Amino acid sequence: MRIVMMGPPGSGKGTRAHIISELYGIPVITTGDMLRGAVREKTEYGLEAKVYMDRGDLVPDSIVNGIVKDRMGKPDLAKGFILDGFPRSVNQADALDEILKKKDVELTHVLSVVLSDKEIIERLSKRRSCPDCNEIYHLVSKPPKKEGICDKCGAKLILRKDDKKTVIRYRLLVYKETTHQLLERYEKMGLVVDTDGEIPFDELHDHLKKLLG
Ligand code: AP5
Repeated sequence: MRIVMMGPPGSGKGTRAHIISELYGIPVITTGDMLRGAVREKTEYGLEAKVYMDRGDLVPDSIVNGIVKDRMGKPDLAKGFILDGFPRSVNQADALDEILKKKDVELTHVLSVVLSDKEIIERLSKRRSCPDCNEIYHLVSKPPKKEGICDKCGAKLILRKDDKKTVIRYRLLVYKETTHQLLERYEKMGLVVDTDGEIPFDELHDHLKKLLG
């Protein structure tokens, strides 16, 4: 399975990607997590990316395409992969086509998560994220067992800098102007499968199994 997760910020792409990864034993490639890791490590491209990420803009294609190309060259993708947060622009979709062509493989699904802006703003302001293992929580619908601490690795949970309301609204705008149009491209290829962002956590496993077979 070679899957692209699409959908607005905060719609539940990462949550679904982690479940699919567990169900089918394939790795998740999350550009947001890779970029946040580079920001924490203060690498050259991390320092450049931080400026864009903090204000909710897309990081330049030249940086993102490079890190995805490197990651896609690793040997653990033989059974497949889940791309979460990539591609996000026409240039990135073209770059992905090139990478897949060189590997002589094709995408099998583009999972499009559908959720209203109102629900997204509510969810993101209550999201807490683990900066170490990237586990995702929600203060009401998926709280950690111990307040402020990651269940999986024990790290202190954080509110992402770009999860402030003003930045969330801007990210939604960037999604509508730049990323949303990619759905049309993948619809023409017959790859798009919609998944309702309102489906509760306890039904997600069965829902995703049904969708992906
Ligand atoms: P990125 O990290 O990719 O963020 P995003 O796309 O904005 O998506 P999010 O991680 O915010 O949300 P999500 O859809 O994964 O939702 P989640 O599952 O967490 O990108 C961040 C930034 O990095 C970008 O703005 C950009 O600057 C840069 N970047 C990244 N990739 C790039 C690229 N390719 N090109 C250029 N720049 C790039 O869920 C959200 C919340 O809802 C959580 O609290 C969760 O617990 C809760 N929730 C999820 N599902 C449910 C449910 N079913 N019921 C109730 N609550 C739920």
